[in-house]
This record gives sequence, C-alpha cells and structure tokens, in this order.
Amino acid sequence: MERRAVFAGALATLAAAGLAACVPTQAASSQDGPPGITYYRDVEPILRARCVRCHEEGGSAPFALTSWAQANLYRRFIQQAVEEGTMPPWLPGPGCADYAGDASLTVDEIATLSGWADRGGPAGDPASRPEREPSSQEPSPRGTVVAVEMPVEYAPPDGATENRCFLADWPLATATYVTGFGAQPADEAIVRRVVAYLAQPAAIDDLVARDEGDPGPGWSCPGTADPTTTWLGGWAVGSGATRTPEGTGLIVPPGSAVVLEIAYDTTTAPASPDRTVASFETADSVEKAAKILPWADPKWVLSGEMPIPAGQSDVSHSFAADPTSLLTRGEPVAIHAVTMQMRSLGTRGSLTIRRSSGEDECLLDLPSWDPGWQQMVRLARPVTLSPGDELAIECHWDNGPDGGSRRLVDEQPRVPTDVNWGDAAGDEMCLALLYASTP
Ligand code: HEC
Repeated sequence: MERRAVFAGALATLAAAGLAACVPTQAASSQDGPPGITYYRDVEPILRARCVRCHEEGGSAPFALTSWAQANLYRRFIQQAVEEGTMPPWLPGPGCADYAGDASLTVDEIATLSGWADRGGPAGDPASRPEREPSSQEPSPRGTVVAVEMPVEYAPPDGATENRCFLADWPLATATYVTGFGAQPADEAIVRRVVAYLAQPAAIDDLVARDEGDPGPGWSCPGTADPTTTWLGGWAVGSGATRTPEGTGLIVPPGSAVVLEIAYDTTTAPASPDRTVASFETADSVEKAAKILPWADPKWVLSGEMPIPAGQSDVSHSFAADPTSLLTRGEPVAIHAVTMQMRSLGTRGSLTIRRSSGEDECLLDLPSWDPGWQQMVRLARPVTLSPGDELAIECHWDNGPDGGSRRLVDEQPRVPTDVNWGDAAGDEMCLALLYASTP
C-alpha cells in the first residue's frame, strides 16, 4: 500500500530525469555484466508474455515495459513487485486450487526478473532473442453480441478511486442466456474493472430511486451492486473479455435491466469523461443454465451480526454450512468459477470445502486482498458439492489506524469507527459468489 505512493513519487522523478539518462549503462552492463541473464534473451520474453498486455503505450498501466530502456529504468520496481507478488495482479495465492488463466509468475520467472535487476539490467544481444510464440488471437464471439452503453457520460473525480454504478436497459425482448462479457471503456487507463449485474424487472424501481438519490450520473456503490441484483459478467483491465464455461450461460428475462459497476482509478492516470460500452455474448439456449450463488452467513446479511470493532487490526468472521441444503434444495451442485468480495478494510480471505468424508479442499485463498483487483476466477475443472459437504468462508479485516487498502503514505492515519456488514461507504462485506450449475 505504501509502496504505491512511494512508487508514484519515484515515477515522477524518473520521468523528470528522462529515459536518456540511462543509456550509458546499456553499454557498460552489456559488456561488463556477468554472463547469464540478459534482457533480450531472458527478460523480454517474460515481460511480453506476462506484463505488456497492460504495460504498453496507451495501456492500463502507468508505464510501458516494451523496450530494454524502459525495463531497465524500472528494474528495481519490477523486482520488488514480482517478489512481493503484487504484479502481475492476481489475487489467488499458490497451492490452493488449479485455475484456468492463472496469471501468477512461476518461481523461475521471478528468479529471472529479480536476478536480472541485481545484475544491473544487462541488455545482452538482440540476436539472442528466442523465437516468438505466435500470439493467440482473441477467440471470435460465440453467438450474438448485445451492446449496452452507459446511459450518460460520467467524469470520475481526479486523483481518486471510485466505484460507480449505472443502470441501463436490457435491449432484448425474449429470454436470453449470457455466455460472455466484455467492456470497452472510453479510456482504459482509468477503468480498472467493469462488473455487470442483472436487475430483475421487480428490482428496477429501487435502483432508479438510488440513482435519483445520488447527485450526478449513476450512484456511488462502494462494494458491489446490491442484494437485489446478481452477477452477470466481469471484465478486468488486462484480462479482457470473459466467457462462461462451455455449455453454460446465465438467463436474462425480458424487461430486465443491467447495472454496470465501474471501478475508476485516476491515481495513476489523469481523469477524463467515460462512457463505457459493455458487450454481452448471448445464446438462445444452453445445455446447462448456470446460476450465481451468493455465499455468506445469513446472519451477517440479515441482522448485521458481523461486527468489526474500531481499533482492532485483525478481526475475522467465518461461516460454514452445506450449500446444497441452503441453495439447491438438496441437489448436488457443480462450481465452475468463484470470487470473494470484501471492501477496503479486507486483508485476506478463503473458501474451503469440508467434505463429508472429513477432508478439506481449498477452493480459493486470497492471502493479500486488494479490492482493486478482484475478479471471478475459473477453476481448471468444475468441483461438485454433494449433500453433507460444507463450504466454509473466512474473511479478515484491519480496522486499526493503518487499515484499509490503497492508502497513500501522505494520508493521515484513519480514525477507525465500528464497522459492520452493509451497502454504504465504509461498510464491509464477506461474500463469495459461485458460478454454478447442475453437475
Ligand atoms: C492486468 C494489468 C497488468 C499486468 C498484467 C501487469 N501490470 Fe504492472 N501495473 C498495472 C497497473 C494498473 C499498475 C499501476 C499501479 C497499481 O494500480 O497497482 C501497475 C504497476 C506496476 C509497477 C509499479 C509498482 C507497483 O507495484 O505498483 C510495476 C513495477 C509493475 N506494474 C510491474 C509489472 C510487471 C513486471 C508485470 C509482469 C510480470 C506486470 N506489472 C503486469 C497493471 C498490470
């Protein structure tokens, strides 16, 4: 967290010094550097595969990593970020479950980047570049694409992070399955994440009232949209469009609306007006209708029994029950993808399956929670829960003076207040969303 502000300051200094100032080291290090790790042979392929989808000119990250000069300039920051595991952004910790699209670096990749930084960032010989793997093309959409635009333009505040929700009409007049989701922000540098929620026809009036109750376009929605809506798709910067698992989709009845929850971040790029367009891949039918099952202790949600007392720096709450009895009337359920949601005081969380046989299976482990990078992660293979199995959720928060993610070093210590489950700014939550179908 502090690193973030330190980095922002250092970035300004580096920019002022100019990239040219570093050129002499190239000659020195490519001649004198110890044999071994070099930029062209070892480092560039890793950056290309793992970083440049965000760290390119005009990309979502505040600087590009597409040349030796850039990578060398930032090499100490790269070293720190990969050793601490903050880059590439990927919240699930190692050793829990296998996920499709795991973005985390291997131990060897970390050692290469880190060792290269320690050796002074030698460039090496461009001729030693390995053959490039052909880049995989974006798969073409399955089915019809339905575009839903933010109803109005919105100018996010400068130098801040904000979660803002916008209500838009769902344009189709027949029941349709959503099988994929993508988003095109006006400026990718300031939009971190877009999550679409389905608002059933009966929930729309309530959401309109929220919109009208908040000055400006849309409304401020600090965590997730609200309990009357269900998750429909997520897009995160750098990871692009997402697909539902093959053969599955989420039904959208006619007359529904969608809530677009947009996470703006103008702390590393200048604010500009946004009018994000969301695109849904749709199909008239699917083999298995999927559902998003919310998982939390009903007592937290219904009676606010999730106290996080002011001043305590490690508060945790947990809950375990048999999801088939609570959610699927005793039928087995297959889980394809999972996500967890806390807000800015969250520090870590986990989801564990407790089999009726007595064995535990890790489903999701988030060792260092960051609300800015939350995303739905797809399991490499669906996991089936049967009656008698339990699903345990556990969340931890820091409600001390230094608690809260994404705090800046020059910020005053916060004055903690008692916190509980809720929808308003400053409230917390401990919620898992399971993308599930029949096995
Ligand atoms: C999904 C997009 C994405 C990917 C992939 C990504 N980055 Fe970043 N990176 C960002 C953003 C956005 C920031 C701005 C700081 C922030 O918001 O955390 C950033 C910041 C950084 C910083 C500044 C220090 C810090 O930790 O904030 C470093 C260093 C960095 N990235 C290195 C890397 C490296 C090395 C890789 C690949 C191994 C990588 N990044 C992959 C988006 C990405």
